[in-house]
Amino acid sequence: MSDAQNQNNNGAGQKPVLKKEMSRRQFLTYTLGGTGAFLVATPLIPMIRFSIDPLLQSKGESDWVKVVEASKITEEPQEFHFSKLQIDGWYSSEPKFTAWISKDKNGEIFALSPVCKHLGCTVSWNSNSALPNEYFCPCHGAHYTKEGKNLAVADGPLDEYDVRIENDFVYLSSIKPNSKV
Ligand code: FES
Repeated sequence: MSDAQNQNNNGAGQKPVLKKEMSRRQFLTYTLGGTGAFLVATPLIPMIRFSIDPLLQSKGESDWVKVVEASKITEEPQEFHFSKLQIDGWYSSEPKFTAWISKDKNGEIFALSPVCKHLGCTVSWNSNSALPNEYFCPCHGAHYTKEGKNLAVADGPLDEYDVRIENDFVYLSSIKPNSKV
């Protein structure tokens, strides 16, 4: 019996052991393929991170803005201006906002957005002598009750801010649909 037959039949009933070596062509294919995949994936990682970055930002305390002392709020709506830091991906800005803040019949403080629900002009309280104690829009004459209910022209009520009272200060956050009417 030859040496080769001895190597492939070592032990009764055992299958012959086959050694498979990688060819030079396979080695180059794997190496170049792996390097190419690495070079393509590396620039994509920051792009993926950038695109999902806003989702990773926590919406916490920074969403609330301290606007005014709660003791200054009356049943008569008053206009307040505030700014809010907004971070959108790598871009940050500090746009200005306006809120009309007052107390309802139960003494609860609420804040309305001044953006008219007709075409987006700015409403103001008691600015038309023909429509006392209402919000009035000078653009096309929409008017609203103190709670923001639309009475003419606009087809929806004024939006409302999220309100929080803490340590006798009024904090405002996001704008939401009106819950008063
Ligand atoms: S935008 Fe206010 S009435 Fe048209």
